[in-house]
Amino acid sequence: MKKFLIFTALILVGGMAFVVPYASADAAKGEALFNDKGKSKCLACHAIGKKVVGPDLAGVSKRHTQPWLVKWITDAQGTWASADSETTELKARVHKEKAPKPAHAPPPLTAEQAGDLADFLMTK
Ligand code: HEC
Repeated sequence: MKKFLIFTALILVGGMAFVVPYASADAAKGEALFNDKGKSKCLACHAIGKKVVGPDLAGVSKRHTQPWLVKWITDAQGTWASADSETTELKARVHKEKAPKPAHAPPPLTAEQAGDLADFLMTK
């Protein structure tokens, strides 16, 4: 029994050691991508701390969930067409309830890149 408990504790500690740096590495990769004007184009329309073409992204983690951000970054049109509460709130806030298309237009990004960007935005 004692051996079993030690074994279980080792697995738990080992698992946490893996999960924690991995999560922060994603946000760091997302930050680098967000700031890469050539690759992500986010900075063409956004800043954190002021409105540019798109909304100010300060406090974005309070308005959105990580899965919504991934969807929005990889499939803006599909997200725009869905009636989920986060999209409805965004449309009302930018006064585009009737617009058929979003103006948010990132270049095609992989699911992994979108995940990194979303992890970064969840720190804002
Ligand atoms: C061509 C300009 C443009 C580009 C490029 C762009 N966006 Fe946007 N974004 C917008 C606009 C405008 C909105 C507001 C909704 C709309 O009108 O489409 C928006 C909305 C958002 C929102 C929701 C903000 C909120 O307050 O709810 C997030 C998050 C976001 N963009 C992230 C990004 C990221 C990350 C990138 C880069 C991968 C990016 N955007 C690239 C224009 C842009």
